[in-house]
Amino acid sequence: MSGYRTDAAIATGNGWTIVENASLEGRNTFRVKARADLLVDIHDDAALEEIFAFRGLAERPVLVLGEGSNLLFAGDWPGIVLSMATRGIEVVEDDGVQALVRVAAGENWNDFVHWSLAHGFAGLENLVLIPGTVGAAPIQNIGAYGVEVGDAIAGVHLWDRRDRVRRHLARDDCAFAYRDSLFKRDAERLLVVAVDFRLDRRPALRLDYAGIVTELERLGDGPPTPRRVAEAVARLRMRKLPNPAVIGNAGSFFKNPLVDADTAAALHAAHPELPQWPAAAGQVKLSAAWLIEACGLKGWREGDAGVSAQHALVLVNHGRASGAELWNVARHVVDGVRARFGIALEPEPRIIGG
Ligand code: FAD
Ligand code: EPU
Repeated sequence: MSGYRTDAAIATGNGWTIVENASLEGRNTFRVKARADLLVDIHDDAALEEIFAFRGLAERPVLVLGEGSNLLFAGDWPGIVLSMATRGIEVVEDDGVQALVRVAAGENWNDFVHWSLAHGFAGLENLVLIPGTVGAAPIQNIGAYGVEVGDAIAGVHLWDRRDRVRRHLARDDCAFAYRDSLFKRDAERLLVVAVDFRLDRRPALRLDYAGIVTELERLGDGPPTPRRVAEAVARLRMRKLPNPAVIGNAGSFFKNPLVDADTAAALHAAHPELPQWPAAAGQVKLSAAWLIEACGLKGWREGDAGVSAQHALVLVNHGRASGAELWNVARHVVDGVRARFGIALEPEPRIIGG
């Protein structure tokens, strides 16, 4: 016997547990094998001060993990994985129309969307069924069906690992943009502890994204309500995207590329069917899925790693693919799109060890 311990808790304290040489296979939606030197589960954020005061922990690389639905482990994590498993939804203010609601980082995002609907609030309905935690939602400013979470965020409560202090950032200081935020650029330093949402009981429905109105009509008579919009969006999502419970994936693997107006016009002239949408600062957003499909890569696979046959923007693990194999497929897709269209696709998920 080597005496090598795997997945046995080596220490527990008030609100935390530490496991040495931990498997992360069940903690990422690609379901690839990976390990961390130490895995720390935080059940009470008051434990952060204690955890980061431990000598030997404070200086090592830290990866904050939610539900692992926007990560690719192309290798092991050579340090500490810190999993935010805190829970709690607190109504901080409520004037009968608007409310300020504070949600712990470890709450499940989709559960919170349903909590908001059940309490009569509007604004999050288009973001239903996005996997992951509330704490991860501001990191890439999750978005779907014409809405981004930054629109509903009032502020974010953080643990600043470098300065070992708690901070609060108001929404306007979070630098939210398409699949981007301040937090994404400083991943090792800023840890989201809780998110404040400004929720409103007066619906301002966003029905402009392709497919919503048709899906509402399919649902039957009656005026659209936040709950009905959520149901329509959920049905669209279940039809379009492969379910990670059935086949490992991390949603869109690439961001939709942003290009300037001249590049967009030239591409439109050559490929009038390429979907384009207006974006911030005069830029134009292109459909990455269309570009990948036009390269003949939809459904392409090498071993168990491949491009989904259901949606060209999603990479899938057909069974036993490793993270490194999936990363090779990603690079093959990037090369193909660059060679054919001169466009550089960027991964959306965080790549570990690639
Ligand atoms: P993880 O994957 O665990 O982490 C993602 C990143 O956030 C990592 O860099 C991690 O270090 C960091 N992070 C996580 N928690 C914290 C924290 N508390 N503090 C600091 N950093 C943290 N995304 C969209 O925007 N729109 C979609 O429509 C969408 N659809 C998806 C569909 C499917 C089927 C899947 C699998 C994914 C989809 N995603 C979508 C991506 C994913 O759901 C989101 O990015 C989600 O916010 C990730 O949450 P998570 O808890 O799994 O984060
Ligand atoms: N398309 C193809 N081939 C495909 C799939 C799509 O050509 O296989 C084209 C179609 O023309 C379609 C267009 O792409 O009309 C757009 O497709 P879709 O509505 O599925 O949206 P998307 O651009 O592929 C983005 C987000 C999703 C989000 C949806 C809905 C990014 C990177 N992805 O996908 O977010 O749910 O819009 O708003 O912005 C994610 O981030 O993980 C994610 C799933």
